[in-house]
Amino acid sequence: METLIELDHVGKSFIDNKQTIQVLRDVNLEIKEGEFISLMGESGSGKSTLLYIIAGFEFATSGEMKLLGKLYTSLDENSRAKLQRNNIGFVFQFYNLIQNLNVEDNILLPISILGKKRAKKKALEEILEYVGLEDKRKKKVAELSGGEQQRVAVARAILMDMKILLADEPTGNLDHKNSVKIMELFQKVNQEKNMTILQVTHSKAMAEYGSKIYRLQEGILYA
Ligand SMILES: Nc1ncnc2c1ncn2[C@@H]1O[C@H](COP(=O)(O)OP(=O)(O)O)[C@@H](O)[C@H]1O
Ligand SMILES: [Mg+2]
Repeated sequence: METLIELDHVGKSFIDNKQTIQVLRDVNLEIKEGEFISLMGESGSGKSTLLYIIAGFEFATSGEMKLLGKLYTSLDENSRAKLQRNNIGFVFQFYNLIQNLNVEDNILLPISILGKKRAKKKALEEILEYVGLEDKRKKKVAELSGGEQQRVAVARAILMDMKILLADEPTGNLDHKNSVKIMELFQKVNQEKNMTILQVTHSKAMAEYGSKIYRLQEGILYA
């Protein structure tokens, strides 16, 4: 299986009030195609920072990273950004959707922005059914439950043909029943669509839906 994500001695520090905070010290990580990995760690341990670095919202201050075999430092900024946004879908704890748009338009939004041809509108029908939103398609996102909003984000990643799904506490705002439903959807997407998943969670029970659990502690990643 192809290695999709590779982090080699990655570190990340922030400068805050002239003080350097070393959030990530030495993160080594290899994620192969088809894996479903859960990342745990105390609040403030750098879990979100790590996901943001992988997604390209933040930059590592040391170490090296490869996405789909391509070394970040060997790419110019444009190619790197393109590589990331064409391959990585993101699910946040607080839903990353436009509340005033309906379900369908939220799912189609990145396609309109990126002008992607590969994801056809007709595939939308099938995907809505796949994630269980077929009767919600014209509803405004603001009228959906938290669990339904997470399904929209997953649907978007499927439509965009994303290889990787990064999820930052996707069930952090959901009750147990809806959390389980999202985890079951993640498993389904992982197994049937071969989408590689890295999720952050505080819940051991939710972490166990993944096939591996990693822990971030004092800036170091432990298997
Ligand atoms: N942009 C930033 N500037 C300064 N400090 C930051 C920034 N982003 C995160 N941090 C700090 O980095 C640490 C890790 O944050 P975060 O990655 O959000 O942790 P987690 O997601 O594990 O709770 C925290 O101490 C946080 O305050
Ligand atoms: Mg976080």
